[in-house]
Amino acid sequence: MPTDKTPQSLTCLDLFCGCGGFTLGMERARFRCLAAIDFNKEAIATFKANFSKETRAFRKDLSRFSPDKLAAKIGVNTVDVIVGGPPCQGFSTVRQVDAANHGPRVRRDKRRYLFRYFLDYVAAFRPRVFVIENVMGLQSAAKGKFFTLVQAEARNLGYRVQAQVEEARFLGVPQKRRRQLVIGVRNDVPGYFAGELRPASRVGDHLARNLWDAIGDLPELLAGEGNEETDYDLLLREVFFAERGEKARHYLQTVLEIDRAPRLTAHRARPHNEKDLRDFARLREGEHSGEAEARGEKMEFLYKRSCFKDRYKRQHREELCSTIVAHLSKDGLMFIHPTQNRSLTPREAARIQTFPDWFAFPVARTHQFRLIGNAVPPLVAEAVGEEIRDFLTAATQPANQVIPFEIAPLPATEEQAVEWLRPLLDMPPTTLRRVAPDDFKRAWFAIAFLYAGLHPDSALDHGEAICRKCEGEYAPVAAIEPRLSAPYYERSGWPVVLAPIAREAWRRYRSQALAEAEFYCSEAQMAGICYRSPQLAEEVRIQRVDFNSTKDIQG
Ligand SMILES: C[S@@+](CC[C@H](N)C(=O)[O-])C[C@H]1O[C@@H](n2cnc3c(N)ncnc32)[C@H](O)[C@@H]1O
Repeated sequence: MPTDKTPQSLTCLDLFCGCGGFTLGMERARFRCLAAIDFNKEAIATFKANFSKETRAFRKDLSRFSPDKLAAKIGVNTVDVIVGGPPCQGFSTVRQVDAANHGPRVRRDKRRYLFRYFLDYVAAFRPRVFVIENVMGLQSAAKGKFFTLVQAEARNLGYRVQAQVEEARFLGVPQKRRRQLVIGVRNDVPGYFAGELRPASRVGDHLARNLWDAIGDLPELLAGEGNEETDYDLLLREVFFAERGEKARHYLQTVLEIDRAPRLTAHRARPHNEKDLRDFARLREGEHSGEAEARGEKMEFLYKRSCFKDRYKRQHREELCSTIVAHLSKDGLMFIHPTQNRSLTPREAARIQTFPDWFAFPVARTHQFRLIGNAVPPLVAEAVGEEIRDFLTAATQPANQVIPFEIAPLPATEEQAVEWLRPLLDMPPTTLRRVAPDDFKRAWFAIAFLYAGLHPDSALDHGEAICRKCEGEYAPVAAIEPRLSAPYYERSGWPVVLAPIAREAWRRYRSQALAEAEFYCSEAQMAGICYRSPQLAEEVRIQRVDFNSTKDIQG
């Protein structure tokens, strides 16, 4: 019988779930999603149409639906992972145009604080890992204030937090989509979540290379044409495969799962007025309206040319599509089909977002576009899910297993760690380069030993806000060396005094003077966690290979 630690039964929650892009990817990465929450009627209707009843979908406002209410409904008060995309409109870089990301309007936008409801669930369910997905604007909004707040508040809950940018194109999504991920790992879970995501294993190297790989087999339509449900054009599909080769076939069959969809749905083009249609016809493939005008085309629409030079854009077959956004529900002017005189259909947008063809959108077209544009591409979510699964599997050591440690030397006590670190604190930063390799390594391992909650990846992205209070997990270190406790950078949690050492560690890591396992020294981190948690130390026996042969760290 699987226990809650066996890989088969890893569980998750999806908050602000939308139509379920994140859930779909997590389920494909073999997570069991116990519940998904969103307050939007169409989102929950679409979610329910696509997932089994075992994944409970609740239409609830997360600002009013507390974690204990969810726990009572699903009969579980802990999960392995919580994922979610608190709404991002408040952070969107698009809104920087109208200054909405700056000044007093920032304070009035309540949606920006929705991440706190997400963190309430983290505090209550204590997942081992959480992942927040958001737009890139999260980093820059209000000069980074929210980016710092999300990370600082998660760290205060006992999570090691790291922010990384996800580039969907490298994961097989035929789209220019960059999103901010904020990943938290509970401090007592050893190891550092790897920086770069790899494409989902199911896809192999059959990634979509461009827009046409995802939509080239779909039937032609005029603007305003198409039905909510229709037959595929199987002849056209075969022609497409013949032209594009096996890779295209594999992508459509493996990622978009065309064979699982009995009929084609949501391939219905929106109507456009005659003037727009004439202007679309003036665009060459891959061109926006400003470029067409620059080569002498005269567009009919009236607009302020300095602001809206790219009012229309015709996508290119052999390039990545522009980012599919929820704004598609308002108009499709930036998403003109590469060869047909109309904007993309919801099914085309869904395919570019890597939703499989069987995924149903049983709601009106404007809602379809909004749900699709808001979603995490399932293929991205799957890559994230697989990475978390691998990470948790490696971090879950069966009780009494002897873990061989190959990194040496590791400190045995906090006093010893501080002793190894102190000489570097007293040096002028410019002289750190001259520290002998072994002395530097000892000091770097000492940091991992002392601070399970700090991530090397966030050491240099600390923002400007500094906290001077000595608190939380730093308090014990303060008694030995006060500088190691405060001041610290609010965003990353790194004590200010360690910043030059982290910079030097990065330099040595990049020049390969520090190996991967030394830079992300989870062994030193694990030794520190066991030192502070006698209970965990009893469960795992750590054996220092290579260091006084077989001496246990407890012994
Ligand atoms: C960016 S979308 C999330 C998309 C989702 N991660 C996916 O992959 O499909 C944000 C969602 O948050 C929902 N939302 C906004 N405020 C909410 C609230 N107070 N309570 C619950 N859901 C909310 C919206 O309805 C929207 O579906």
